[in-house]
Amino acid sequence: MPPSAARPAPVDREKVPAHVAIIMDGNGRWARQRGLPRIEGHRRGVETVRTVTNAARELGVRMLTLYAFSVENWKRPQDEVGALMGLLEFYLKKELKTFVKDRVRLRTIGRIEDLPAGVQKHLRHTIAETAHFTDYTLVLALNYGSRTEVVDAARAYAAAVAAGKEKLNDGSWTTFNRYLSTADLPDPDLIIRTSGETRLSNFLLLQGAYAELVFTPVLWPDFTKADLAEACAEYARRERRYGLTSEQIKPAPAASS
Ligand code: IPE
Ligand code: IPE
Ligand code: MG
Repeated sequence: MPPSAARPAPVDREKVPAHVAIIMDGNGRWARQRGLPRIEGHRRGVETVRTVTNAARELGVRMLTLYAFSVENWKRPQDEVGALMGLLEFYLKKELKTFVKDRVRLRTIGRIEDLPAGVQKHLRHTIAETAHFTDYTLVLALNYGSRTEVVDAARAYAAAVAAGKEKLNDGSWTTFNRYLSTADLPDPDLIIRTSGETRLSNFLLLQGAYAELVFTPVLWPDFTKADLAEACAEYARRERRYGLTSEQIKPAPAASS
């Protein structure tokens, strides 16, 4: 479309990230600061999951991915792992009605098949019951780790090549991407980590290649809608260049026509 002199100057409208991913960290420290057992922090963390799931939808985010349990988290004390799995099952059981009422589609990434049978059953049920919703998706990363995901994808890709379903010479990112557990999901635009840690801890390492990163000192149980809004505002102030120059991605000024 040729630029027209009558066209108004580009509006610097707020850019809402379509896909926000969060590394929910700091439950243990939140509990320790209060002299409570770590599991109390996790229990409060589940409350925050509810708050933030609503908040993201209200802010116009289309997809929210929450890192809830990493492949490395199995190495924690057995009673903590057991309590986390119990909380997850309780959350899924309780939340189904809300998901249906609020039209939230539930998805997962990670090796779900290694989770306790009860958790898997509720996951399968909730995913099936919410599969038809299209406006807003909650993705739970459970037993997830990027390195495991890449190894699984490479194995599946190699098997497809061996079976003649893929040609090795045609290999590209687009092809390989189809073997990741996020194959049908858009890349995250914004990755937030709470609790003051500034690392990714094996979370969406490939998918987050061009995500904006926001780190906040707030511990996950204390994270609020205002904190999410602030992270989104910070995202809106960033310029995503994808390797180009700033001039290349700015809309041409009308006067230059
Ligand atoms: C995040 O909180 C929850 C999970 C990893 C399951 P943490 O339990 O890691 O809390 P901190 O880091 O010990 O404070
Ligand atoms: C990352 O938090 C995993 C989740 C939030 C589920 P961790 O607390 O496990 O990460 P590290 O060990 O501090 O890197
Ligand atoms: Mg932690």
